[in-house]
Amino acid sequence: MKSPKTIYVCTECGAQSPKWLGKCPHCGKWNTMIEEVLQIESEKPSARRPSMGSSLSDNKATAYQKLTTPAYMRSESGLGELDRVLGGGLVLGSVVLLSGEPGIGKSTLLMQISDALGQDRKVLYVSGEESGGQLKLRAERLGVTGEHLYVLTETNLEKILSEADEIKPDVMILDSIQTIYSDKINSAPGSITQVRECALTFINKAKAEGISMLLVGHVNKEGGIAGPKVLEHMVDAVLYFEGERQQAYRIIRAVKNRYGSTNEIGVFEMTDRGLDEVANPSEMLLSGRPKNVSGNCALCSMEGTRPLIAEVQALVTPTVFPSPRRTSNGVDYNRVYLILAVLEKRLGLKFYQNDVYLNVVGGLSIGEPAADLAIAAAMISSLTDRIVPDDLLVIGELGLAGEIRAVSNLEQRVREAARLGFTRAIVPYRNTEKRPLKVEGMRIIPVRGVYEVLKELKEPTI
Ligand code: TYD
Ligand code: MG
Repeated sequence: MKSPKTIYVCTECGAQSPKWLGKCPHCGKWNTMIEEVLQIESEKPSARRPSMGSSLSDNKATAYQKLTTPAYMRSESGLGELDRVLGGGLVLGSVVLLSGEPGIGKSTLLMQISDALGQDRKVLYVSGEESGGQLKLRAERLGVTGEHLYVLTETNLEKILSEADEIKPDVMILDSIQTIYSDKINSAPGSITQVRECALTFINKAKAEGISMLLVGHVNKEGGIAGPKVLEHMVDAVLYFEGERQQAYRIIRAVKNRYGSTNEIGVFEMTDRGLDEVANPSEMLLSGRPKNVSGNCALCSMEGTRPLIAEVQALVTPTVFPSPRRTSNGVDYNRVYLILAVLEKRLGLKFYQNDVYLNVVGGLSIGEPAADLAIAAAMISSLTDRIVPDDLLVIGELGLAGEIRAVSNLEQRVREAARLGFTRAIVPYRNTEKRPLKVEGMRIIPVRGVYEVLKELKEPTI
């Protein structure tokens, strides 16, 4: 056996260096290089790269014409909101990384899935964080029956693998990948080498035996997955579980998905009996909306195939700083600056004398330009102290000339608003030019320019 080789690995990005460096040359962060032992006792990592569905021995180039479209075998997880994010269910032989802050509900979610999948398939739930008793307590609280559910409290990779070989599960859950360590690697559990090598072993096993795997990954204090970024590259899908711990709502979103889109989100509510799916997220996002207050406006954002109605709040106050503050939560800064510049230039509004605080309620982040006009309306409303009526939905993309540009899926958005009790919608004139939009119970107000929104704002009533 060769003597172990020491390398230095960046805890932020996984970059390696033969000697210690104060600053990572790859990501530029300071004090992130830690010492790790590279040598693995038996096999070299290069011999164990994951092979995408084919074994390494017969890995020959294939004529493109002979490639067949894979028919992904999916199994529903029992939670429709999760299946939606996964692109229709858990793919056979895929590896999904579920990440989120401690206490957000990852173990709860996985236990619920285990139960649902365990009705007709063999599930092995490996926990490196909790004892069997603790798992049982949680499972009882969730009403788990677990027909074919096996639980293993273990952190040693080799023992987990030998148990898995015995049980031969269809689905394996590893909670969490950071707690699992291999005897063959000399560095501490949770270190980058350990996490990477253990993950690689599981990925190979998943691909070779067609086991669906769900790995839990902890996040570090910056919000990224603790351990190397390579973990995200290795797996088939990366899901983030987010939400405010003080609030009951949780949002699950895919940041990577080899088997589906990354646009969909799933919404859950944490109850005392586990996570409940929220079938009507718009209702949730609009609950507790203040009435008759300036600075608020309803917007509609398409999240994948589903329109979501949420509320954007703006607070515009005279500034005491030499350069005014702009704070934005849920909307990209550049977009906010752009909208502000258009409003200053085209409407002559003096935002440069004011601080602007912007927030999308419910922790949603809006990436769609179709929300521009609602954001603009909220800011104008706060600046001028005039109110956007509660039953008015504002839709439209703002152009640099102050013109309102067409948006996609307009009818779907307006229908969703009508369902939620809105009675008026400001929409881009361009969308209705050729075919007027008719939605029952809705007054449609087509607008060409941002100035037309002003006349829909009203004085506050006391
Ligand atoms: P947990 O799933 O252990 O979070 P994670 O694995 O992401 O660290 O638990 C999340 C929190 O949810 C925990 O503080 C307790 C709470 N909880 C409920 O409110 N209801 C429940 O039914 C369960 C099981 C947990
Ligand atoms: Mg947990």
